[in-house]
Amino acid sequence: MDYTRLFSHRTKYMRASEIRELLKLAEGKDVISFAGGLPDPQTFPVDDLAKIASYIIETYGTQALQYAPTAGVTLFRKTLASWLDNQGVKVNDNDSIIVTTGSQQGLDLVSRVLLDKRDIVITEKPTYLAAINAFKPSEPRFIGIEIDDDGMKTDELEEILKSMSKEDLSKVKFIYTIPTSQNPGGVTMTMDRRKHLLELAEKYDLLIIEDDPYSHFVFEPIEFQALKTLDKNGRVLYLGTFSKILSPGIRVGFMLGDKNLVSMMEMAKQAVDLHSSTLSQYVALEAIKRGVVDKTMDKARRIYRAKRDVMLEALEEHFKDLGRWTRPVGGMFIFVYLYKDVDTKPLMYKALERGVAYVPGGSFFVDGTGRNTLRLNFSYPSQEQIREGIKRLGEFFSAI
Ligand SMILES: Cc1ncc(COP(=O)(O)O)c(C=O)c1O
Repeated sequence: MDYTRLFSHRTKYMRASEIRELLKLAEGKDVISFAGGLPDPQTFPVDDLAKIASYIIETYGTQALQYAPTAGVTLFRKTLASWLDNQGVKVNDNDSIIVTTGSQQGLDLVSRVLLDKRDIVITEKPTYLAAINAFKPSEPRFIGIEIDDDGMKTDELEEILKSMSKEDLSKVKFIYTIPTSQNPGGVTMTMDRRKHLLELAEKYDLLIIEDDPYSHFVFEPIEFQALKTLDKNGRVLYLGTFSKILSPGIRVGFMLGDKNLVSMMEMAKQAVDLHSSTLSQYVALEAIKRGVVDKTMDKARRIYRAKRDVMLEALEEHFKDLGRWTRPVGGMFIFVYLYKDVDTKPLMYKALERGVAYVPGGSFFVDGTGRNTLRLNFSYPSQEQIREGIKRLGEFFSAI
C-alpha cells in the first residue's frame, strides 16, 4: 500500500534527525564520533540505581507499577520543587511543576500548546536542532538571534523587536533560549544579558522558554542565575531534565512555570502519553533523596572538565589556522567556526572515510546560515579518542 496519501500535512515538516542518520553511517566502522550528544556512561550511577530500583519495587511495588496522574507522582513533584530551590531555580507560589518524558517532550508540548501557523518563534542562532524539529510541524516563522561568547546578543534582539510591526509583535509566541552551556554553541549568557532579556520580555510582553539541561553541572566557577529565578512576572517557562545528571534512559524531565500556563501543557500531555513512567519517577525521587543525583553531578563535572580541556588543547594544536571555537564552561559541546568558506555538510561524508564524525553546524541555524560550522561533542569519546579524532579532523580540514 502507498501510505503517502494518508500522511497528514504536518508530517511534511518532520525530518529524520541528521545526527541520528550520521550515527547510523558511523556504526560498526573505525570512526571516532564527535557527532552524538550522549553522556559518558561512566557518569551513570549503575550500582546505586540497581539498589534503588529493587528497593522501589519492593517497597512501593503496587504504586510504582500503577498509572500515575498526568502531572506526575505527587511526592516526586514536591521533592523536585525543593531540589530545584536548592539548585537556585526559584519556584514561586503561583508556579506548578509537571513531569515530562524528557525535556524533549516539554518542547513538543510547547509547540502544541502555543504555536499556530505563521506565529513567530525567536531562537538563538545556532540553537538546539531537536527544538527546531519540535516546533516546525506547527509551521511557525523563525527569527534567529546571533550568539557570541556572552550568549544571545540581546542588543540585536532589541533592534529586531523595535523594528517589528505591531501585528508581527503580537505573533511572537516565545523566545526559546538555552542560556547556560548552550547546545550546540557551547556559550553561556552573562548576567547582564539575562537581565536585558527579561527587560525586553517585560517591555514587549513576551514569554521565554528556558531550556536548561546543563546548568546543574557547570564546571567553572562562574556566577549566574537561571532566568526563571530572575523573573518576577511569570514570563519564564523552565524546562529541565535528569538526562545528564542521572540517566537519559529513565526519560524523566520536567516543566516549571506559572500554573495557568503549565495546566494547559498538562492537558496536552494527557493525550500524548497519559503520564511519564511511574517507575522512573520513583527511581528519580529516591535518587534525589539518597544524594545520588548530587554525586552524579559531581562526577559529571570532573569527567567533562577533563575531556573539555583535552579537546581544547587538541584544537589549539590542530585547528589554530583553521578556525575559531567556543570555550564552554559546562555542557558537552564545542562549536567551531571555520575560517574557510566551506560547506561542512557534504564534507562530513568524506570526514567519515577518514575515520571521524562531527555534526555539520548549518542545521542548527534557523535561517540557513552557518554552513562553515561544526559541532563537536566531548562528553562521550575517551580522552585518547578526542586527541586522535581532533588530529584526524585537523588534517582533514587542512587538506581542503
Ligand atoms: C538543549 C537541549 N534540550 C533538550 C534536550 C532533550 O533532553 P531529554 O529529552 O533527554 O531531557 C537536550 C538533549 O540533549 C538538549 O541538549
